[in-house]
Amino acid sequence: MRQAPQTWHYGLVAKWWAEFNRDGPEISYFQRHVERGQPALDVACGTGRLLLPYLRAGLDVDGCDVSADMIALCREQAHREGLAPKLFVQPMHELDPARTYRTIFVCGGFGLGSTREQDAVALRRFYEHLEPGGVLVLDNENPYSGAYPWRYWVKAEREAVPRPSEPLESAERRRGSDGAEYALVSRVADLDPLKQTVDYELRAGMWQNGELVREEEYTLRINLYFMNELLLLLERTGFTDVRVEGDHRNAPATKDSDFLVFIANKPLH
Ligand SMILES: C[S@@+](CC[C@H](N)C(=O)[O-])C[C@H]1O[C@@H](n2cnc3c(N)ncnc32)[C@H](O)[C@@H]1O
Repeated sequence: MRQAPQTWHYGLVAKWWAEFNRDGPEISYFQRHVERGQPALDVACGTGRLLLPYLRAGLDVDGCDVSADMIALCREQAHREGLAPKLFVQPMHELDPARTYRTIFVCGGFGLGSTREQDAVALRRFYEHLEPGGVLVLDNENPYSGAYPWRYWVKAEREAVPRPSEPLESAERRRGSDGAEYALVSRVADLDPLKQTVDYELRAGMWQNGELVREEEYTLRINLYFMNELLLLLERTGFTDVRVEGDHRNAPATKDSDFLVFIANKPLH
C-alpha cells in the first residue's frame, strides 16, 4: 500500500497560514533564484507566501502542494487579485507536472510527514522535471537550530518527552480577516535520534464572539536532516556543484546558520 505523507496543513492550520504567514526573508531570497531561471515551480507552495508575490511581480511560476486546503486558499487569494496560477495538488514524491522547469524550489516543505525513502524519490522527481542546466533550491532547518527540540537528542532529557500539552484556551489568539480568533499550540510527542525523526502534536482552535466554535488536532513527523546527509542524497540523485548558503542570505552557511539552503545544479549534458 502506498503511504501518503501526513502533514497538519489542513483546515484551521491552512487558514492560519493564509491569514498570518505572509512575509519573511525567504521571499526575496528565493525570488532572486526564480528571476535567474524561469519557468519555476514552487514545490510545497502552501497558501502562496512566496508564490503570490512572484506572480504579482510577473514571474512565470507554478505551484504544487500535498494539501488541497492550502492550494484552495492560495487559489482563492490569487483569483481575488486577478491572477490565474497553475496550481496542483501532489505529494512531492509523486511530482508529475505538465512542463519542465529552469528552477524548482522548496521552502519549508522537505521531509514533512514523509518517509526518508519518499524524500529520496522526491529529489529524483525534482531532477527529472528540471531542464538540463536547471537549478534546485531547497531549504532545510538545521536540527540543532533551537534548544527546543534539540535538547531531547540527549538521552536523559528524553525522559521529559512527550511534553505536557498546553491548554488551547491559554494560547495567544490572533484575529483573522473574518473577525474570528485563531490559536495554535504544539508539543513534541517523540524524538528518535536513531531514526532522526521528531513527532509533533498540534491543536488548533477558532473562536467567534469569544466562544470556541471549532477545534482540530493533528500530528506531524519531521525527518531531521543534517547537511552531509542532504549533500550525499543530492549527489546520489545526479545533482552537481551543490552550494550551501545560510539563513536565506547570499553567503555560505556557517555553523551558526539556523537554515541551510542547498543550491544544486542539473548538468547540461
Ligand atoms: C511550512 S509550510 C511552507 C509553505 C510555503 N512553502 C511557505 O514557505 O510559505 C509546508 C508546506 O509543505 C506542504 N507539504 C508537506 N509535505 C509535503 C509533500 N510531501 N509534498 C508536497 N507538499 C508537502 C504542506 O502542505 C505545507 O503547505
